[in-house]
Amino acid sequence: MGREIIWQIESNYALVSCINNGRGIIVEKEIAPKDVNITNISWVNEVSIFFREKLSKLGVPLASPYLCFEKDGKAIQQSPYVGLDIEKIFQGGKAELLIIEKMLTAMKGVLEQKTPEVGIDARLSNFCIGPNNEIYYVDTFPPLVKYGEKYIVHFPNPTNQKTIQEELKRKFDPMGILRRFRFAILEQNVGFTENDILCCIHNALGYELAAKAKNFFTTFLDHLEVNDAFDQLNLNDPDGIRELALKLIPSNGDRKIFLKEIFNLSSNFCPYNLTKKERMDKIKILMQAQICV
Ligand SMILES: Nc1ncnc2c1ncn2[C@@H]1O[C@H](COP(=O)(O)OP(=O)(O)O)[C@@H](O)[C@H]1O
Ligand SMILES: [Mg+2]
Repeated sequence: MGREIIWQIESNYALVSCINNGRGIIVEKEIAPKDVNITNISWVNEVSIFFREKLSKLGVPLASPYLCFEKDGKAIQQSPYVGLDIEKIFQGGKAELLIIEKMLTAMKGVLEQKTPEVGIDARLSNFCIGPNNEIYYVDTFPPLVKYGEKYIVHFPNPTNQKTIQEELKRKFDPMGILRRFRFAILEQNVGFTENDILCCIHNALGYELAAKAKNFFTTFLDHLEVNDAFDQLNLNDPDGIRELALKLIPSNGDRKIFLKEIFNLSSNFCPYNLTKKERMDKIKILMQAQICV
């Protein structure tokens, strides 16, 4: 049977292809080609399936059926194509607060866990909208889940306890998830404010979480005067760095490139071979250039 590739993207964790296989349109992820090998293929697929089961139990809508298998030494994961992702919808001029509310409703079960054992990566490109405006969470690799006694927070998973704790705070804890979500929306620059986001949280999740989020958001560096915030930049707070970067960036020019660079430099999994000091120096230089513009 024929396989026509409709589009293909290479991300940090996968080679993602949208394919017409003659029976329908599917999305196929070849997981982390650089890091997957014969020793971990079955682990990669098993933990992904486990994570999906946990998400599903918490009511998170997923693209199904999801097939995980091994082919020519590669870990392959397939799901049906379920529609455009929400980042593309926003960038196409179709941003709506109702979509934000629906995403929060989709994540509700994860956000209401008493002791979080399941995480979620709440960036807009990880959610798609189907033909009846239904939402799907599509990014189930790397898994974010307690697997046996271990928390899986990244791939390859860090061994350093401090990094694991930080990632749990950012991707499993409800306030950390809402923080990333707030950033993902403000990053799109479509005119939505923090207050709009808080209203959506209130509508989708209720007063208590909204009040907690409101208090938490006021502690962020982007609530300070720029020079004061600049003095407090720290690699232990990658979100603070990214949020301040967002506040400094003009809406034109190389916004996307700048933000991607700040994202990489501030990441706990920075892809560059630089010391912490070199990363911080680069971040400050990039930001200062914006302040002086
Ligand atoms: N089932 C799916 N239906 C439609 N689009 C999808 C689907 N799975 C992935 N995508 C698209 O591919 C992109 C990358 O996939 P994702 O699973 O988020 O991997 P990663 O972020 O690790 O590269 C998504 O942002 C989305 O645009
Ligand atoms: Mg993704």
